[in-house]
Amino acid sequence: MINDIESILVSEEKIAEISTRIADQINRDYANTGKKLVLICILKGSLMFSCELMKRITLPVEIDFMKVSSYGSKTTSSGVINIHLDIKRDDMEEVDFIIIEDIVDSGRTLSHLVRYLSERGANSVKTCTMLDKPDRRTVEFTPDYCGEIIPDKFVVGFGLDYDEKYRNLPFVGILKPEVYGGC
Ligand code: IMP
Ligand code: MG
Repeated sequence: MINDIESILVSEEKIAEISTRIADQINRDYANTGKKLVLICILKGSLMFSCELMKRITLPVEIDFMKVSSYGSKTTSSGVINIHLDIKRDDMEEVDFIIIEDIVDSGRTLSHLVRYLSERGANSVKTCTMLDKPDRRTVEFTPDYCGEIIPDKFVVGFGLDYDEKYRNLPFVGILKPEVYGGC
């Protein structure tokens, strides 16, 4: 696996730092809201980052899961968001959601999910991403919490995959373009 990585972009230590910084912000922002705080882990990519955040949040918090896909080919978004696993709750107006993503690319997935949960009556919906590639935006979208802004490179590791592989790398690395036939 490691031979397919061009360079390490975000180290394990840096991800720990990012997680502490964002969890501290969340601990401040959601203290004494009187509502339920629910993190939504977007499967599969944000699994590892969601764990890092969760263990640093000191407020009472629930975790829920959604599974969505937007990718047409293996490295580019199709633009169509499919929800494969949805949350089931009857207390939406009591809930402050924070959607946790691995990376924001075109911005379509998160802008779609924010609209979707808001329309279902959530008290509030915010977004948190480990990585952001703002150069790739096709819709206007800014995450509420962002770990690290990165250049327009295809990255893998710490949850992020190429063709379902590399998710278990403990850091985020740039995938060698020859692995996916890019240049
Ligand atoms: P968006 O809807 O275009 O913002 O797509 C976000 C989703 O695309 C992420 O949740 C990832 O699954 C995927 N994605 C975007 N860029 C990368 C990347 O560099 N490596 C792996 N997956 C990526
Ligand atoms: Mg993803």
